[in-house]
Amino acid sequence: MGTTEITSRIGELKRRKNAVILAHNYQLPEVQDAADFVGDSLELSRRAAALDAGTIVFCGVHFMAETAAILSPEKTVLLPDLAAGCPMADMITARELRAWKEQVPGRKVVCYVNTSAEVKAESDICCTSSNAVGVVNSLGVDEVLFVPDKNLAAYVARETGKRIIPWDGYCYVHHKFKAEDVRAARSAHPGAEVWVHPECPLEVIDLADRTLSTGKMVAEAGKTACREVVLGTEKGIIHRLKKENPEVRFIPLRESALCVHMKMTTLDKVLAALEAEVHRVTVPPDIAERARGAIEAMLKIT
Ligand code: 13P
Ligand code: SF4
Repeated sequence: MGTTEITSRIGELKRRKNAVILAHNYQLPEVQDAADFVGDSLELSRRAAALDAGTIVFCGVHFMAETAAILSPEKTVLLPDLAAGCPMADMITARELRAWKEQVPGRKVVCYVNTSAEVKAESDICCTSSNAVGVVNSLGVDEVLFVPDKNLAAYVARETGKRIIPWDGYCYVHHKFKAEDVRAARSAHPGAEVWVHPECPLEVIDLADRTLSTGKMVAEAGKTACREVVLGTEKGIIHRLKKENPEVRFIPLRESALCVHMKMTTLDKVLAALEAEVHRVTVPPDIAERARGAIEAMLKIT
């Protein structure tokens, strides 16, 4: 079957099954194009909670589908490829977090949305890359434990002036960016602005013009007067940015900035997921209830 045929079959099944397709900004172009809504982690969580569809096909990675299932336990949340996990989310388990809390007691725990439901259940509040600074400021404390991204933790520490004690996790895509990449991009594209994601190391953030979540990159691209933007993030986002802003040239900070886990969801798998109603992502009710507390605490303040 060709792309057009697959897309029209997906459309038919969506209508018949009252299903909605959500896709992250890093998904494959054809998957983004088949989605009803494309967004960043925060936007997708909000959208999942507000939808009245019976079925959500989540084109992203496992923790995102889990977040949707936690917020909407009555809906059927499908992940087209169960192996599409986030390696950063897998860098901390609930058992490790419990042990850490015992070692460093009395601190609030902030978990990045890139965590399992079990880790969220052990945390006080969740955050995403677009609201992490606001979430930490909202707590009214000077010191927090932050899991699992040490780069985002360092950025939040600098922006808030608070002591953020980080877990030793990172995103393998963003962690590879180096200060040297920014210097090389500046000399190759002297008129361009450099926008980077807060999962990048501080040495990269320090040299960039803006530090933005993927959702904020999309919003800023619609307003910028700049005609050339170098992007320090997963390069899948360029598909959407180009489509929405054809007059701007978007250049990846590194050609190799690809998350293979985000690319595991193909259009064929989206169709198969809708046809067979697989793979359903569920969270045990006791864990879901505690994890929901951390996610809702975040949604309340942002
Ligand atoms: P945002 O979409 O929230 O910016 O997160 C990026 C990311 O790495 C998701 O896996
Ligand atoms: Fe995880 Fe990084 Fe891939 Fe996002 S881009 S899913 S944080 S590994």
